[in-house]
Amino acid sequence: MPTTMRWLGHGSWSLETGGHKVLLDPFLDDSPSAPCKAADVEAEFVLVSHGHFDHVADAASIATRCDATVVSNFEVCEWLQKKGVKSAQPMNLGGGIDLPFGRVQLTLAHHSSVMPDGAYGGNPGGFLLTLDDGKIYFACDTALFYDMKLIGAAGIDLAVLPIGDRFTMGPADAVEAVKLIGPKRVLPAHYNTWPPIEQDAQAWAARVKAETKAEPLVIEPGATVTL
Ligand code: NI
Ligand code: MN
Repeated sequence: MPTTMRWLGHGSWSLETGGHKVLLDPFLDDSPSAPCKAADVEAEFVLVSHGHFDHVADAASIATRCDATVVSNFEVCEWLQKKGVKSAQPMNLGGGIDLPFGRVQLTLAHHSSVMPDGAYGGNPGGFLLTLDDGKIYFACDTALFYDMKLIGAAGIDLAVLPIGDRFTMGPADAVEAVKLIGPKRVLPAHYNTWPPIEQDAQAWAARVKAETKAEPLVIEPGATVTL
């Protein structure tokens, strides 16, 4: 079975890979664009990129209900454990760990990270997943940075980049990011959740097609992509 990725809107993704269920940045119950609620998803692992509410919102409730392991930076893991999460795999930037579904590396992200209650949320990150059938790079919330070129050197099959602007890279910088990373395929995320991050994803995809070798995939929340 190839890896599948379902977009749950905003920065939230649900992966099925090698018989394992992996959730990234679950923000469902209060998200205007989520196709389902937190109670509807299953996970064995919940990856959290940073402490902002639109990434951690439903992490504790889902991880607790599903007995899932949270994978995040040390501070986010500690905060979620105080909320009742039993199992965590704390990491820090540049570090990687081998999990039953593949290798997870916490990559740089230029952003901020504070927990919803004001607690320190450590450094924000992205995730590089090395799975049986390919490599996926989730940039998560970040500005454009030149070291994306180093991440791309790993050979990325699928990159997920924010294009919303204002809080993260916008469309123009996300095109530059595609040039640095050189993924085979690229998906936009973190846009059209609210009016301040409204973007024309099709126009962005046209630029990616014209200016890079990557194949852009524009999908709606709820849709699934196969690696
Ligand atoms: Ni953020
Ligand atoms: Mn965000």
